[in-house]
Parts: sequence; C-alpha cells; structure tokens
Amino acid sequence: MSWFGRAAASVPALESDPGADVTPQELERFRADTPAVAHGRIHLNNAGAGLMPRPVIAAIQQHLEREVQLGGYEAADAQQEQLAASYEAVAALVGARARNIAMVENATVAFAQALSAFDPVPGDVIITSNNDYVSNQLMYLSLARRTGVRIVRAGDLPEGGVDPESVRACIARERPALVAITWVPTNSGLIQPVADIGRICRAAEVPFLVDACQAVGQLPVDVGVLGCDFLAATARKFLRGPRGAGFLFVSDRMLEAERAPRFIDMRAADWVAPDDYRLAADARRFENWEFAYALVLGLGEAARYALGADVVGCGEAARALAVHARARLAELPGVRVLDRGPELCAIVTAEIAGVDAGRVVERLREQAINTSATFRGYALIDMDAKQAASAVRISPHYYNTRREVDIAVFAIEEFCPGG
Ligand SMILES: Cc1ncc(COP(=O)(O)O)c(C=O)c1O
Repeated sequence: MSWFGRAAASVPALESDPGADVTPQELERFRADTPAVAHGRIHLNNAGAGLMPRPVIAAIQQHLEREVQLGGYEAADAQQEQLAASYEAVAALVGARARNIAMVENATVAFAQALSAFDPVPGDVIITSNNDYVSNQLMYLSLARRTGVRIVRAGDLPEGGVDPESVRACIARERPALVAITWVPTNSGLIQPVADIGRICRAAEVPFLVDACQAVGQLPVDVGVLGCDFLAATARKFLRGPRGAGFLFVSDRMLEAERAPRFIDMRAADWVAPDDYRLAADARRFENWEFAYALVLGLGEAARYALGADVVGCGEAARALAVHARARLAELPGVRVLDRGPELCAIVTAEIAGVDAGRVVERLREQAINTSATFRGYALIDMDAKQAASAVRISPHYYNTRREVDIAVFAIEEFCPGG
C-alpha cells in the first residue's frame, strides 16, 4: 500500500465535523467547486494561496478569452458593468462603498500606496506592532532610514499580540503621523485587536492603516467597525481569489484631506495645466492606469463567492479545523505549537524539534499535502521570542475536513522522535 494509502486508511473517514458551521451538503458543494480537492490534493495552505472556486476561475478564463477574441482594450470596454460590479462586491465584503475601493496588484502594493500618502519629516512617528508583517516592517525601516521617521512598536499583551492600551499610551506620548497594524500576521494564528485600536485612533484623530491581508475571507471585515482610514488586502489567500490582485480601502476622511500616493499616474489624476493636476475624487487615485482586468473580475467574483458562502460561518469552520489541528499536533512527541494570543485564527504553526520546516513541507508536498514553512526572517521578533528557527504552517479553510487535517498530522509524525 502506498504511503498515502496507509495514511488515509489509518484515519477514520469523517467528511464533516459534528456541530460545524458548514453543513455536509454545503461542504460537498464547496468541495465540488474546488478542482484540486476533487483531484485528491489536501490543500492546507490557504494562508499562502487559497484554492480558487470554479466561478472565480471561469470569470478569469472568460475574460482572457474575450481579450483573445476582441483585443485587450476592447474586452475591458465591453466589461465596464462587470468591472463596476467587482468594485461593488469588494466594497460589500468590507462594509464600504465602491468609491472607496482601489484595485491594485497585491496587499504589499496596497500598503505601500497608503504609506506613501504620508510625507514624513525627520522626527515624525509611525506606531506599529511587534507582529506586523515582515514586508511592512521593512517598509517602516526603509522610511526611517531615508526620511528620519521614527518607528515605535507598541508593547504586547501578556498572552500575545499588541496591547491596545500600549497603543493608546504611545499615541499620547508620541503624537504619531500614523498608526499601522497587521490584523492577522502571517506567521502564526494570532489575531490582533484592530477594532480596539481603531477606536483609540479615532478618538485621537490619528490616521489608521490596517493590513487585512490574512483576515479578508476568514474574518468578517467592516471598515466602519474598524474605524480605519486604509485597509490593505490581497485576493489570493482566504478570499480565494487569483494571484496578482489586491485592493485598498481608502476612507472619505483621507480622500477629503487630499491624501494620495507619492507617485500618481493618469488614472489617479488629470493633467489640467502644464504645471497642475487634479486628483481623482475617489479611491482610484491609489490605482495605476494599467490593470489585469481578468484578475479584477476574478477578485470581484471571489468577493461574491465569499459573501454567498457566508464569511462568518465559513471562518468559524476554518478556525474549528485549526483548533483540531493544534490539538492533534500537540499530541506528537517533539512538536511545539507556537500560536499565542487571546484569539486565534485558521493559521496553525508548529515547530518540530531539530527539524527544518522546509523539509517537512517538501515531504508533505510529495504526498499531495500542501502546507508551508515559516522561518525566523519572516517574523524576526516573534520567532526570537518563541526561540524557534522554523515552523510548519497549516492553514485550513472551510472546504477542508478534519480527515484531511488528520492525514497531514499523520504525515508530520514521520519527522517526530520514533516516527
Ligand atoms: C499579513 C500579510 N500582509 C501582507 C502580505 C503581502 O501580501 P501580497 O503578497 O499579496 O503582497 C502577506 C503575504 O503573505 C501577509 O501575510
């Protein structure tokens, strides 16, 4: 019997979880909509890139075909209504209006565009957290090196994650130009309390930028509740959209304050006189003229799919699978589950003593089990605090099953002492 056969045979068949938020019928439909699942792949890497459901794939393929048949510009013109509907769907997903959504290439671009709307002078302060995403930390450090801005990281709660009271104290002390926080950092299950921080920022009238890259699609998002001025996200993760697409929410406050990215193009503004320009009235001033239209249509479809599937129930189902994964992993000899925080999401990280996580991921992939690895350089402060060099990351979604999680855990056991 093959390794996979042994693994599957040793794990009891259980296609949906008792008491789960997704019914067996819904689970069947979600799985039927997901081609790789139907072909037997166990995809537990939704924090890397979720699997696109069929309607998203169809929207992209159909537009590429339109470009083939009509020409790129002509195809985009023919889809104006559908493109507008994509903005509406993304806006509905985050509780915004279409005019406040900018379509961009990915979450990093969204975040950078927002950050570049501020013109820091030496001594200005940006408040952030120890757990902010690696690329955001690099952007802060680059800004500090080039402009003299000071980066202040608020303190953490004893149970993990940024402490809103520390953010409040930092704001009172530093009078920052901006507070920027990653909601769900990529390298663990931590959920940071962004709504609490949003309330504090609003009361202090400090602009608030949220990185919601790992949150969108697994947590309900309402920019009104978050009180944020910018929210950056990507299409491809728990939202199950395509790679190479993302979006940025921009508040009316920021639009009215004439905030715009440092480098604008003919999409962002009109050139109205040799030495003058007029910014677009809406969030399109954060976009570029050239667009991957097929991907924007795919992102709109992914937002509609998430809304139709029910983000709240699906997110709870994904988190229940993560709870199960943590419990199973904790039973293995030599395995240390690394997730800490008052509230955890559908990202599970575990260190296997003396084993490089990259090797584990490779071996699992040979068995058609997708996971990923996280390393010290991806989250320096957090990994050092946990004294971990690398960790396997398992990120289930609502279309996964406990059985798939169990098979992955069984495969990981091979690396444990006595395995
Ligand atoms: C929390 C977080 N923020 C930002 C990003 C960057 O997203 P993108 O690769 O779409 O630019 C990631 C990617 O993993 C992430 O996990």
